[in-house]
Amino acid sequence: MMMMSSLSSRGVSHTGGRGVSRGARSHRGLNQTICMSTVTRNANIGKLAAGYLFPEIARRRNEHLEANPDAKIISLGIGDTTEPIPQPIVDGMVESAKGLGTLDGYGKYGGYGAEQGQGPLRDAIAERFYSHVDTSAADIFVSDGSKCDIGRIQMMFGSGHSVSVQDPSYPAYVDTSVIIGNTGLFNDDTSQFDDIQYMACTAGNGFFPDIDSAKKSDIVFFCSPNNPTGAAATREQLTKLVAKCKADGSILIYDAAYAIYIENPDCPKTIYEIPGADEVAIETCSFSKYAGFTGLRLGWTVVPENLTFSDGSKVKTDYNRIMSTCFNGASNVAQAAGMACCSDAGYKSMLDLVAYYKENALILKKCFEELGFEVHGGTDAPYVWVGFPGKNSWDVFAEILSGTSIVTTPGAGFGPAGEGFVRASAFGHRENILEAVDRLKDYFKK
Ligand SMILES: Cc1ncc(COP(=O)(O)O)c(C=O)c1O
Repeated sequence: MMMMSSLSSRGVSHTGGRGVSRGARSHRGLNQTICMSTVTRNANIGKLAAGYLFPEIARRRNEHLEANPDAKIISLGIGDTTEPIPQPIVDGMVESAKGLGTLDGYGKYGGYGAEQGQGPLRDAIAERFYSHVDTSAADIFVSDGSKCDIGRIQMMFGSGHSVSVQDPSYPAYVDTSVIIGNTGLFNDDTSQFDDIQYMACTAGNGFFPDIDSAKKSDIVFFCSPNNPTGAAATREQLTKLVAKCKADGSILIYDAAYAIYIENPDCPKTIYEIPGADEVAIETCSFSKYAGFTGLRLGWTVVPENLTFSDGSKVKTDYNRIMSTCFNGASNVAQAAGMACCSDAGYKSMLDLVAYYKENALILKKCFEELGFEVHGGTDAPYVWVGFPGKNSWDVFAEILSGTSIVTTPGAGFGPAGEGFVRASAFGHRENILEAVDRLKDYFKK
């Protein structure tokens, strides 16, 4: 009631003045008008006609629950972590949080910034993840996670650039490109946005795009191991990718959010293992899937000193400007947790956690294989990519949901080359993964 009357008074109070040009509408009856602003909508956001993939999955999941209130849903869908943050990491966080309640501790951990992250954490990340390459702590920007960094990277580049993405890929690359104005409209015929290059990654090309036939573009997003296919790129493939970007004068945005899951020694864990990548690539990474920080929020982005724009100016200078302008530093408690992740005990506990999810991935992979499906991924990534050739992936998603109360992710949500696949995430409690296996076997063996 209160909201209705305040809406009403907002409308009434503006009529006769700005309200007229605002075009007050009587959406809610004669006495309940809503006053519209004169601000035009960002037309680029208007291009994103469909909802973001995961909210749509959540909507369908809720619909299933409403229709089947007793269903025990198992989610192999969104890819959110399920296991607790390991104790050595929690200990680091707790100490920092308690410190914030003391004068000394507040002096040490409290307050703003630095916008680039605390110096000791940048050093620790450099030492833990980049000691085998040339990456220096000064090139590492600590943040509240990779998704946010992808948005800020786009803000730094701005519009007027051509973009390439793997197809299928993590939706944030395309959606942020749309929002910043680097694409055309969504094309129903191709199921792609116009004016953005989708580089197909299929079983036929080993889930690595045909680089030789790819057009030049200014910005190239590449994720390894890839979400959703679970494919990790080899040294040879990444060498080719870096060479292509160098030849084209492109900047590569390399997403290493799942690098810790790689076990194939032939697959680099950072793009900087490829000689010359520091002149071509920004790398973004995150503790989300390393240590269960999806809610805690901590990640980092490497912007190498040697990476430049066409006028010779440093990309790092502009990224620093963006971080200083739009970000006030990651939470100091989260940064303390990040420090703990980089300690020997924390790192070991992180590897144990990753091993747990990888075991889940193998269980799911084996299940789908036994059921006779075409299965990819699952060994170097927490995702299993299951083929249902000739079928619409939203239909497969719906069939699995209604038949087993298991939520997966339809492959087409990651791009048109994902059609005919669903992604099963290995983030789950072991008992739920085993229960999911039983249900899938029951359902598909029928
Ligand atoms: C490939 C990829 N990059 C980035 C992210 C986002 O990570 P963060 O939680 O650090 O924002 C995700 C999350 O699912 C992802 O799959």
